[in-house]
Amino acid sequence: MVGTFSLTNPVLLVRDPRLVDKIMATDFSHFVDRGLASDAQASPIDLGLVTMTGASWKAARQKLSPVFSSGKLKTMFEQVSLTAQAIIGYIEKAGGAEMNVKEITSMYSTDVTASCFFGLDVGATLGADNEFRRQALRAFDMTYPQFLKFLLTLNLPSWIGRRLGGSLTPPDLAAYFGDIIAHAIKARKENDIRRSDILQLLLDIREKGTVEPTRSATAVDPDDEYLAMGGNRENKESSEFNDDSVAAHAYTFLTAGLDTSTLALCFCIMQLSLHQDVQEKARDEVRKVLGSKSWPTYLDLKAMSYLENCILETMRLYPAVAILFRQCTKDYTFEDGVTLKAGDSLVLPILGIHTDPNYFDDPMKYRPERHSESKFQRGTFFPFGDGPRICIGNFVASTIIFYKLPIK
Ligand code: HEM
Repeated sequence: MVGTFSLTNPVLLVRDPRLVDKIMATDFSHFVDRGLASDAQASPIDLGLVTMTGASWKAARQKLSPVFSSGKLKTMFEQVSLTAQAIIGYIEKAGGAEMNVKEITSMYSTDVTASCFFGLDVGATLGADNEFRRQALRAFDMTYPQFLKFLLTLNLPSWIGRRLGGSLTPPDLAAYFGDIIAHAIKARKENDIRRSDILQLLLDIREKGTVEPTRSATAVDPDDEYLAMGGNRENKESSEFNDDSVAAHAYTFLTAGLDTSTLALCFCIMQLSLHQDVQEKARDEVRKVLGSKSWPTYLDLKAMSYLENCILETMRLYPAVAILFRQCTKDYTFEDGVTLKAGDSLVLPILGIHTDPNYFDDPMKYRPERHSESKFQRGTFFPFGDGPRICIGNFVASTIIFYKLPIK
């Protein structure tokens, strides 16, 4: 453990995988929050799972987890597949001309997000001058004043953060996505339409308080004892869904999922082009699994284990989220006597641990095989985080990334 400062804020940097695992999973009830300030009154669209805290986070996560079950995901698979086909068509149309991989992968991720999360038509965002895409990119393009505000809200006591006021999301951007969702909700109501997408599941939660379980559903959280703790004792207010929370969750899925999936896909394509031997091996597997088919089914993807290892190895070397933030929510004493008080901040360096020679041989080498050779020690490989606060979209992300890669 290393004591460090972020501006004036003391922060504990934890590098020991055993302790990292305790913080994320075993002793999670002491480290529930991330300490990312958000001002729901100034901007309700910012109040999604990433920034939510304590009991309200727990209640929302319990409701939202079934939305991302593998069973629900299968019903969205068709849209991911159609989007991948549209983007491949777009690449083919360019007739071998040089293309910017980041641009193409971002177009694809935006289009999947637009159709699966917001209910827009597949193919809607293809092309550089699409409005949804332009606005989505703005969500990641922080201006200097916004970045400064982000740094300050992260590092100064929360009452000062609140004084700085407002939201990190520019009001016109919040209004744009708020409008899209309001229109989609209205259109579905008026025309009595149901779609197999995340917006529909959010609307179901708002209407019925829950989503229908899918028979083959697998819970997203592998260790969700904390979520189950205390049953559903949350007060009604903290778990209520209204139009604002539907918009906030859909917007959070966009901001949490778009750039991360784009980066993983982009770096994976880069690694496959730098390692032609790996690419050939992956293509052989794809050809073998697909046989005479042009496009993989959900089950076909599951059979492409080498390609999966290529993605995992990419996320080891280029985790889209390089460090995790945690805030101590209940006083905690480590085995060596170091004590944290509620409110103290911690960081867990994903990138540092993923490339530490103590846990990975020749750590900077891109070697997908390592993911099937042996099981990694807990707390050493966590591109999606871990424990009850693990990335809720990890199945969706894997499918989005996976589907774009199998080209014979
Ligand atoms: C390759 C793609 C992705 C990567 C690498 C990634 C990574 C992460 C990481 C590291 C966290 C923090 C986990 C923790 O604190 O323990 C996280 C949280 C989260 N991610 Fe992702 N993510 C990806 C894609 C997605 C997608 C597609 C969605 C959309 C649904 C999504 C939604 C979220 C949300 C809502 C949270 C907050 C969960 C909570 O606090 O309960 N992510 N993600």
